[in-house]
This record gives sequence, structure tokens and C-alpha cells, in this order.
Amino acid sequence: MGRVLVVGGAGYVGGHLTDRLMEQGHKVTVYDLLLYEDVYLKDVDFVYGDILDQDQLLDHVKRADVVVWLAALVGDGACALDEELTVRINVDSVRWLTSVFEGRIIFMSTCSVYGAQEGWLSETSPLNPLSLYARTKLESEYILMSHPNSVVFRLGTLFGLGDRFSRLRLDLVLNTLTVRATLNRRMSVFGGQQYRPLLHVRDVADAVILAMGMDANGIFDLVAENVTIMQIAEAVQEQACDAQIDVTDVPFQDTRNYRVLGEKARHELSFAPKLTMRDGIAEVKQLIEQGRIRDLTASRFSNYLALRPFLREHQSPLGREVHVAHQLAHHRTRRVTSAPT
Ligand SMILES: NC(=O)c1ccc[n+]([C@@H]2O[C@H](COP(=O)([O-])OP(=O)(O)OC[C@H]3O[C@@H](n4cnc5c(N)ncnc54)[C@H](O)[C@@H]3O)[C@@H](O)[C@H]2O)c1
Repeated sequence: MGRVLVVGGAGYVGGHLTDRLMEQGHKVTVYDLLLYEDVYLKDVDFVYGDILDQDQLLDHVKRADVVVWLAALVGDGACALDEELTVRINVDSVRWLTSVFEGRIIFMSTCSVYGAQEGWLSETSPLNPLSLYARTKLESEYILMSHPNSVVFRLGTLFGLGDRFSRLRLDLVLNTLTVRATLNRRMSVFGGQQYRPLLHVRDVADAVILAMGMDANGIFDLVAENVTIMQIAEAVQEQACDAQIDVTDVPFQDTRNYRVLGEKARHELSFAPKLTMRDGIAEVKQLIEQGRIRDLTASRFSNYLALRPFLREHQSPLGREVHVAHQLAHHRTRRVTSAPT
């Protein structure tokens, strides 16, 4: 039992992970800027803050035994909005953490660091990050490898439902295809032969808990299964029976294609993912069919669409000096003041 600081814990991964850590009896604090949430309702100690506000964050880091670092600008599109800010959030803040904290760090990287490669890949394979997002994660990995007590998880593409509170991300391939098939009865697939390693969002929590209970350090791929985008679409079609798959060869900027073994985590951490892509499709489909999401087109379900309005403002020369928190506060105030009374 220890004091666990979950930085970025109000996001997609953080929701279920926080529940599991509390179930295990840990004293959990979530530190988050609520980039995508208007309210944080979970009954857990919460600090609203920007990771770039190092004075505030240091107070909380100092009290922690373990820091689980989830905060980042996540996804190729979101990171491309403001490259300088992305590097400050995704890389510089991790460098800062390693300079002030000697306890255990559990960090989320991504299998996107493998880019596009033939054959089966593992932690020792060559790396080929194709986007700023993947490059910032790889740079953070290098920084963390000089920290004596850290675990880096390279997550496959996540899917499925996390907890009851946090936002479902609809900018992830399995979730997106399930929404389109359920609502529109058709899905567009670009090419379709590209491989993706997949992992259910709730399975990430198991890996974090295993890593907290062991001395193991280093990099671990976390993957449940490797499938092509077409296989995901076909699995969605099986459950959303009459949905049509439109294959397009229109060039798509996302050229990732990789298959990842995930053996090291299975052997050294005894990580055994429990949920399959079919589980994820079923639960996302049910959520939509029950009408539990009023507006599936709302920008908050996509990191890129949610961040675009206020990170665009950040391009002004003055804005560059301002913390994300201030950008967000400004954006929210404008929304409030322009709303009808
Ligand atoms: N979802 C995936 O498929 C996936 C795959 C590979 C890796 N990852 C990694 O896992 C981690 C969590 O991903 P997620 O899907 O939960 O993302 P998310 O975007 O849902 O959550 C990120 C959280 O970080 C917070 N945050 C961002 N910038 C902040 C700042 N400056 N100060 C304070 N808080 C800030 C956001 O408010 C959000 O709650 C990320 O590091 C991501 O790179 C996710």
C-alpha cells in the first residue's frame, strides 16, 4: 500500500486505473488539467493543475511513493497542433520529473514508436517513429532509461470502455469503427492491411498494478492481439450485422503498420490481458444503442478536435508564453460568457 500520484489520471486510461488502485488500498491522488472534462466526479483526492506548473506539481510529487505518468498530448493530430507545446508537455515535463523524483515511475509510451515495419517486433527491435507524438514518447523513454526506478509501457492501440466517469475516446480505430457501423451502418477503411497491436483500456490497469509490486525496470510492450484494420472492421461487422465496409485507397497520413509480440511483459510481469477486441466492440456498441451518448459528434471525444480551438489561439506570439492552463481557462471563460443566460 502506498501513495500513488496519477498524473493525467482524469483521462481515458486514468479512469479505470484509478478505480483499481483504490480497490487495492492505495492512497491515490489524481493531478490533471481536465483538458477534455468539464467536471471530475470520482471520489478520489484530486488536484486541478497543469504539469507545466512545476511548483504546484512538486508538492504532490514529493508526497508520492509511485508516480504513474499518463499526462500528455496524445495522438498524432493533437500533437501536430502546436509542436513546441507538445515537446514541453510530452518531453520536458518528463525530464523534470526524473530530476526531482527518486521513487517509482510508471510511464505510458506507445507501440507507435515502431512505426511501419515488417515482421514481428519486440522491445529490442529497431524503432521508426513516424509522427511528432511517437517521437516525443521515444525521447521520454530515453530520459526514463537513466532513471533507476522506472517502468515504461509501450501500449498497443487501446479500445473499449474504461470506468463510469471518464470520457470514451472515439478517435481510436476500434471505437471509431464501432460507432460508425452502429450508427451509419457503414465504415470506411483506408487500405485495411495495416497491422495494429490492440489492448483493452481496462487491461492497462493490471499491468500497472503488477509493475508496482515488482522490482522490474525497463521497457515492456503491452499487447493483447495483433490484427489488421480490415480484421477489426470484419469483427465489428459480425456484431453490427448489416454494416458495410467501404475500402478506400485514398492516401491516408497514418502509415503505421506493425505487429508486436508482447512476450516480455507476459514472462517477466506475468501480464495476461483478459479482454478481446470482440469484448470492446460489444460494450461500445451497447453504449451507443442504449443512447447513453447524446452527441457522438461532440469534439470532446477526439483529442485533436477538442484541442484545436484553443491550441490554434496558442499560435499567437503572446500565447506562446502562456501555460496550457491559462489557455484553457481563457477558452472556458469565453464559452461561459458567450452562453445565453
Ligand atoms: N489511448 C491509447 O490508445 C494509447 C496508446 C498508447 C499510449 N497511450 C498513452 O497513455 C497515456 C494516457 O492516454 P489516454 O488515452 O488516457 O489519453 P487522454 O488524452 O484521454 O488523457 C490524458 C490526460 O492528461 C491530461 N493532461 C494533458 N496535458 C496536461 C497538462 N499539461 N497538465 C495536466 N494534465 C494534462 C488530460 O487532461 C487528460 O486527462 C498517454 O501518455 C498516452 O500517450 C495511450
